[in-house]
Amino acid sequence: MTEQTPRKVDMEKIVSLCRRRGFIFPSSEIYGGLSSCWDYGPLGVELKRNIKQAWWRAVVQERDDMVGLDASILMHPQTWAASGHLEGFADPLVECKSCHLRWRVDDFEGDVCPSCQGDLTEPRLFNLMFKTFMGPVEEEANVVYLRPETAQGIFVNFQNVVNTTRKRLPFGIAQIGKAFRNEITTGNFIFRSREFEQMEIEFFVKPGTDEEWFNYWLEERLNWYVKLGIKRENLQLRQHAEGELAHYARLCSDIDYLFPMGWAELEGIANRGDFDLVQHAKYSGKSLNYLDEEAKEHIIPYIIEPSAGVDRSALAFLCDAYDEEPDNEEIRVLLHLHPALAPIKVAVLPLSRREKLVVVAKQIYADLRQQWMVSYDDAQSIGRRYRRQDEIGTPFCVTVDFQSLEDGQATIRERDTMNQIRLPIAELKRTLAAKLEGEPLFVLPPGGQIWKGGENG
Ligand code: GAP
Repeated sequence: MTEQTPRKVDMEKIVSLCRRRGFIFPSSEIYGGLSSCWDYGPLGVELKRNIKQAWWRAVVQERDDMVGLDASILMHPQTWAASGHLEGFADPLVECKSCHLRWRVDDFEGDVCPSCQGDLTEPRLFNLMFKTFMGPVEEEANVVYLRPETAQGIFVNFQNVVNTTRKRLPFGIAQIGKAFRNEITTGNFIFRSREFEQMEIEFFVKPGTDEEWFNYWLEERLNWYVKLGIKRENLQLRQHAEGELAHYARLCSDIDYLFPMGWAELEGIANRGDFDLVQHAKYSGKSLNYLDEEAKEHIIPYIIEPSAGVDRSALAFLCDAYDEEPDNEEIRVLLHLHPALAPIKVAVLPLSRREKLVVVAKQIYADLRQQWMVSYDDAQSIGRRYRRQDEIGTPFCVTVDFQSLEDGQATIRERDTMNQIRLPIAELKRTLAAKLEGEPLFVLPPGGQIWKGGENG
């Protein structure tokens, strides 16, 4: 984390909204919670799925030079010897001689305990990997680790993918999955937790073209966040200084986001050179060479790695989308989430619970939910219902009123502008599809009307 810059949105508001509306809960809360582990509730799970889907779509589905993978979390323990994690994936820790709290050396300046000002021990290295045992006997020979990054599952499958897909350099392998780190300092909500999800690409290139691909991915990944609605001024690139580089990296730049607590890493893009393939070839005894058919020689590809966190992305998208607007005597809280990320795309709201209206509204609901996550809400005033949807980022509400029974039309109300249009029910699905796919809002179909939402808008 670098300099502390205050933000309009504070973390408490985000945490409170996430809890109140069912995005994110503390893990095992009825037992008092488990430190820095989180559960995604009904809306959070949709947001996370949408983030992963948007990433997969951009990096796998829409590209010719990428394939996917889903490797096992538990890997052969030699993996971690080869990767350097057994030796190098450790934080220097000090312990207070008085209160016995442990601290990460990088987290504070000074040489007394930040809690009780007591004397500290000399730093000792603490490995961040979670250990467990495979099989019934808990002995050293059966130790396995929960992966601290998804990347290694990709490296050890490099040859399998080359042999089965006919992919030629440059190409990448993408993977989404859980990773675990026994972090010493956690906190800032889901920013740093002990169990989290990564979205990683290992992009294999010919040595000599690595610099070009590094810059390409830096820009590509930065643009992905911007396309999905993050304000450009809340993102910055930060190149690692030489002493800060991880053991495998020749070069690394972070995409930092201006979180409520200050600028901090959202995604890291590293040039890993040939470190990983060389190491795994050495430890496994298997050749991980690649036949460059043009040059008629075997080479070891270099790797460019854009590595993003799903949870950190979720936090950044939530923080960036959060807004409060004065609304008569009240405050309208809303999430300007990109439609692709919004947990619920459309809410269907009958103006009353009178049966004739309910029949029409339920029919619309049944039809729309075949395509999207749609919610149906008939409780309280229409104004309250709009606010509830605004607060969770639902881009569109469809309202069915008594007039609908006569003219077969319904109203679509847009979250950000509160503009409303009225159009034939038969046109709803097509119109919403166009809007959710990003067409300009409210191009009127023949015979439609547009107006500005009033008090209940
Ligand atoms: N394979 C490279 C690698 O794992 P990293 O910078 O340690 O690099 C990549 O992690 C991304 O994973 C980070 O940018 C962050 O988004 C996410 N991440 C790492 N540790 C995390 C944690 N403890 N909690 C939540 N997300 C984390």
